[in-house]
Amino acid sequence: MITRDYAWNLLNEYNKEPFHIQHALTVEGSMKYFSKKLGYEYESEFWSIVGLLHDLDYEMHPDQHCSKSQEILNSLGVNKRLIRAVASHGYGLCLNEQPKPEHNMEKILFAIDELTGLIGAASKMRPSKSVMDMELSSLKKKFKDKKFAKGCSRDVIKQGAEMLGWELDKLLKETILAMRSCESYIINEMKIYNN
Ligand SMILES: [Fe+2]
Ligand SMILES: [Fe+2]
Repeated sequence: MITRDYAWNLLNEYNKEPFHIQHALTVEGSMKYFSKKLGYEYESEFWSIVGLLHDLDYEMHPDQHCSKSQEILNSLGVNKRLIRAVASHGYGLCLNEQPKPEHNMEKILFAIDELTGLIGAASKMRPSKSVMDMELSSLKKKFKDKKFAKGCSRDVIKQGAEMLGWELDKLLKETILAMRSCESYIINEMKIYNN
């Protein structure tokens, strides 16, 4: 199993855009929250690293997204379970076929990837610029507004909730809480990163 430091260095080797680093950190922090929420606290670090690396190849190899990551991680001899989990967030979405999310960790990753983007965009519209005071009702409005953050696929989010066997509202609410749990950490990390 690779360490968080190893994963962080690898992420930075393949990603130079602050936006992508911030997304990786957001999904990392949210995965950590869900690992605890769902009773996988003993694997928190593993869930977090999957989140951190899930888009490893996207910046440099967008056309081979998820496939290139598998190639890179395989060549480094990384744990197969981690490789599978990273790839499974592209299930039905990437050019090449990717494994279907089976484990709760994989289902959560699939469900929150686009959703954290939507919540992040919605938080920027708030006077506070924060998720701390964001309520479910206001997120639901943004979710329904098709013109808002068009790039964040509502279908993928709904599909993720279905995979988990959750009502959409539960997924939205829990992901707000997940992002609250790591917001200040990420603001700090991005300050360090940008300096
Ligand atoms: Fe992705
Ligand atoms: Fe992503």
